[in-house]
Parts: sequence; structure tokens; C-alpha cells
Amino acid sequence: MLKFGIIGFGFMGQTHADTIEKLDYTELVAVCDTNAMQFKQAPEGVATFLKAEDLLATDINTVIISVPNHLHLEMVKKVAEAGKDIICEKPAAMNAAEFDEMMKITQAANVRFTIHHQRRWDKDFRIVKEVYDSQTLGNIFTIKNSLYGFNGNMHDWHIYPEFGGGMLYDWGVHLLDQMLVMMGDSQLKSVYATVRNVINKNVDDYFNIQLYFDNGITGQVELGTYMLSEKKDWFERHWFLGGDKGSANIDGFNPSGSITRTTELLQSVGGKTTMTPAGPTRSFGPPPAGRIVSEALPEVDVNHEMFFENYHRFVKGEEELAVKPNQIYQLMKLVDAIRESAETHQVVTLD
Ligand SMILES: NC(=O)c1ccc[n+]([C@@H]2O[C@H](COP(=O)([O-])OP(=O)(O)OC[C@H]3O[C@@H](n4cnc5c(N)ncnc54)[C@H](O)[C@@H]3O)[C@@H](O)[C@H]2O)c1
Repeated sequence: MLKFGIIGFGFMGQTHADTIEKLDYTELVAVCDTNAMQFKQAPEGVATFLKAEDLLATDINTVIISVPNHLHLEMVKKVAEAGKDIICEKPAAMNAAEFDEMMKITQAANVRFTIHHQRRWDKDFRIVKEVYDSQTLGNIFTIKNSLYGFNGNMHDWHIYPEFGGGMLYDWGVHLLDQMLVMMGDSQLKSVYATVRNVINKNVDDYFNIQLYFDNGITGQVELGTYMLSEKKDWFERHWFLGGDKGSANIDGFNPSGSITRTTELLQSVGGKTTMTPAGPTRSFGPPPAGRIVSEALPEVDVNHEMFFENYHRFVKGEEELAVKPNQIYQLMKLVDAIRESAETHQVVTLD
């Protein structure tokens, strides 16, 4: 049984409490928050504490850390010293140096340590990964991973850089983690990034990041929280994968889209002129009939609880841990490189 304590019982802490209630191998023993108002949301029978030290003295074996980002390192130290296993919220740390310290602390204390990157089990990402792994698009040369919305304003501690605010820490680490996981053993060679504060004074709310991998793929991760649209839906979530045998478009968190492939390489079409609304063209005209076929996206059956299922099986020694600290160290190094590139307007090489 995973006997949980949660430190930081705000939006995400309460979301974790709901999940823990649903699973039959987990139990929520105690929650801790410096704001006692949050305890109104605590399930009945769960102990509540204002101080982390008091929660750590209870009969728990695992702690979820869901305090604001700048406090993650401090909490990891406390929890590791108490000998409890740790699931820490993302972004794991403020930078790679902090995360390195966390890894050393948890190793020395001999406690389990992972980061809550549940978006590895997002349906859209899993479909994209399956398309990527199947090699059905031939040699992939580009992957675009984007998320647009028009709410714009950051809130609470998210508006302060010193607390780890801004969208690069908030959603960026999810989108970047998905790209790194999909690339598997391929190495990220370099990165070029634009990171902007569009309507928020102090923290970023737009970024456009180019990732150059040693397998020849250029990844682009773009996010904007101030992309105005007439559309009713707040989010526009889009993936595009381009290969030399086809393309895939995947839209939405509950995705629609398709795979489009050529039956024959289009380079053999020749210089035929086609009239389009943009005038005559030889490069952008529609291909001859029968050269393009559409295929449905693969089916996947995933949900965020699978993060906990994996963690539980890992604890029982039945499975490898999915979200490994060394992967997250690479992710934090990438975040550091993105900030450097955005500041210097230079491509930054990763070792
Ligand atoms: N994985 C995800 O999809 C996801 C989604 C949202 C937030 N998060 C992460 O969860 C963490 C918390 O974010 P949130 O949106 O829940 O914030 P929040 O402000 O809603 O909750 C944070 C809580 O921590 C409490 N707190 C602050 N300092 C504390 C301390 N020293 N000891 C105990 N409690 C303290 C606050 O009172 C607050 O209730 C962040 O790291 C954030 O990035 C992850």
C-alpha cells in the first residue's frame, strides 16, 4: 500500500487527493499546508498539519510535494531526511544544479524519487509517439508540438519569477519532456529559443523553441497564452509530424486528425503547373489523384492514473520507473539552455 502524505494542498495537492481516493493501492494519511483554509478540501479522516515536520512524523511511506516551484528543493531535503519516498511535482527544480542536488540528497538518503510528469500519459502524445515509433511516415524531419490559448494572465505565485512562475516552468517542461521521451536514445544536440513576456510583466507567457536532434529531426515547441481566437475552446493543441513518406496532423487533447501518406514519391510528378487561389504554382499544387491516402490515427487507451500505476509496480519491483531522475536532469539542463539561448539570441549546444 502506498501511504501518502501531501505537502502543499492547493490546486494540485487536491487533485492528487482525488486520484488517491480512486485507487485501491493508495491511501491518503495526511496533508500539510501553511494556509489552513485549504484543509476544508481535505477528505474526512485525513490528518492536517501546518508544518511539514509534523506530517513527516506520521505513518506514511510516500510524500507528494506540491508546493510552489521554488520550494521543491527545500521540501525534498526535509522529506529525504525523514526517510520517506518522494513524488515531486514538476518543474522538478528551478534549474539543473538544483535538481542535481536533489538527486544527490535522495540517493544518499536511499529513498525513491520521481517527478510527476503525468503528461507522458496524455492521449494525444501517446498517439503521436505511436505514429513516430511505427515509422509509417518514413524518415521524419520535423515535429511541431504546440499549445495556444487566450486566457493570457498568470495568477497567484505564477506571476513571480522567484517563485518559479511563467509558462516555461508550467507547461514548457511537459511539452519538452514529451519531445525528449519520444526521441528515445537520440541525442539533443542544440537549441534555439525565443521566450517572451507578452502581457505578463515579469514572467514568460510565450515561447518558441527549436530543438536539433542527432537523428536529423528538428522539433519545434511553441506555446502562447495570448493567442486571440474566435473559437469557443480555450485550447488549441496541435501536433504535426512530417516525414519523407507522409505527414500526420493530430489536434486536441482528445485527438482528431489523420495520417496522410503518398502511394508513390511525389518527386516523380514533374514540373506540372497548377492554378491555385494564390496563383499558378509548380511546387504547391495538389498531387495527382490516387497519390495520397489517408489513414486513421492509432487507438490508444491511456490516462493519468497510469503514472501512479507505474510507480506502484516500480515499488513492488515489477516494473522500471517510467519517470527517471536522470531523464529529468536532462530536461532541466534543456530548460537552462533555453533560458541562455533566449537571453543571448544564440544557438546553445548541449553536451
Ligand atoms: N503536473 C501538473 O500537471 C501540474 C499542474 C498544476 C500544478 N503543478 C505543480 O504543482 C505545484 C503546486 O502548484 P498549484 O497549482 O497546486 O499551486 P497552489 O498555489 O494552488 O498550491 C500550492 C499550495 O502550497 C501551499 N504552500 C506554500 N508554501 C508552503 C509550505 N512551505 N509548506 C506547505 N504548504 C505550502 C500553499 O498555501 C498552497 O495551498 C507546482 O510545482 C506546480 O508546478 C503541476
